[in-house]
Amino acid sequence: MEGGYGVGAYNVNNMEQVQGIMAAAGEMKAPVILQASRGALKYGKMIYLRKLMEAAVEDNPDIPIAIHLDHGNGFEACKLAISLGFTSVMIDGSLKEDSKTPTTYDENVAVTKKVVKYAHERGVSVEGELGTLGGIEDGVGSGKVLLTEPDQAQQFIEETRVDALALAIGTSHGAYKFKRAPTLAMDIIDEVKTRCPDTPLVMHGSSSVPDELVAIINRYGGDMPNTMGVPISSIQEAIKRGICKINVDTDNRLALTGAIRKFMAEHPEEFDSRKYLGAGRAAMTELLKGKMRAFGTAGHAGDYEPKTLEDMRKHYAEG
Ligand code: G3H
Ligand code: 13P
Ligand code: ZN
Repeated sequence: MEGGYGVGAYNVNNMEQVQGIMAAAGEMKAPVILQASRGALKYGKMIYLRKLMEAAVEDNPDIPIAIHLDHGNGFEACKLAISLGFTSVMIDGSLKEDSKTPTTYDENVAVTKKVVKYAHERGVSVEGELGTLGGIEDGVGSGKVLLTEPDQAQQFIEETRVDALALAIGTSHGAYKFKRAPTLAMDIIDEVKTRCPDTPLVMHGSSSVPDELVAIINRYGGDMPNTMGVPISSIQEAIKRGICKINVDTDNRLALTGAIRKFMAEHPEEFDSRKYLGAGRAAMTELLKGKMRAFGTAGHAGDYEPKTLEDMRKHYAEG
């Protein structure tokens, strides 16, 4: 990953999300990571989601796209994603296979090493995670925040040879992250970056939960309590300090839901699903164009040389 900006990694579950993201990436000429959780793969019966992501690649030859497994919960989940043609996988060894119980450092190293060996032999890159995020409402997270310890992060990267590392700096998944403006542990990014300057660092739980998106949902019949996400300014600071992959799911869900609610309220007679899903897709594209500008990704589609999995396999084999 090139320096100086953060590439958004956006979760996808259906066609409208894939198209909404790709429309923004195309307009902004931004590299993009499409990522699927295990829940998304189950919902999309795997084959449908894989084909949708393949379609995004085929339809956007000038946009660099990584197809990524988000929060793989064990070796088998990563192996499955690799068999589906994903170009990178995350093994979230910070939690046990239930995606809730924190593991020990040694357990995390063991499963991550196993995935790295298997993935690199097939040219697939791997994201690991050390430390845990809070937030359990979306099913991923221990509910307890265990911040990443920088010395341990260096040891983890050296022992496992992961390509990228997700840091826990105080964010959490989902819409209910904070009650007031958060203070994130930015110094952890500096300290890991100093120790491991060549390892791309990842920030999960990066949705900003914009007030205006929550307001639209509530104005049109929704019921979301007051909440705060990660301010864009904090994400920009994290990027300056070394974060280069930024995971966003919740904000896209909010944009999609709000636009659908609004459309249905304003057009009670309408029952053509293309109308309200189209409105949701357009709302996501608008949201993401803003993020791609804010994260500095806009205009960087030309920074990457296309590489096949075979190129990457040789690269890993050379050590
Ligand atoms: O990290 C979690 C992502 O938001 C995916 O959520 O498991 O509900 O698909 P999901
Ligand atoms: P958000 O819930 O903040 O969008 O985080 C998504 C995420 O980290 C996916 O891995
Ligand atoms: Zn995550």
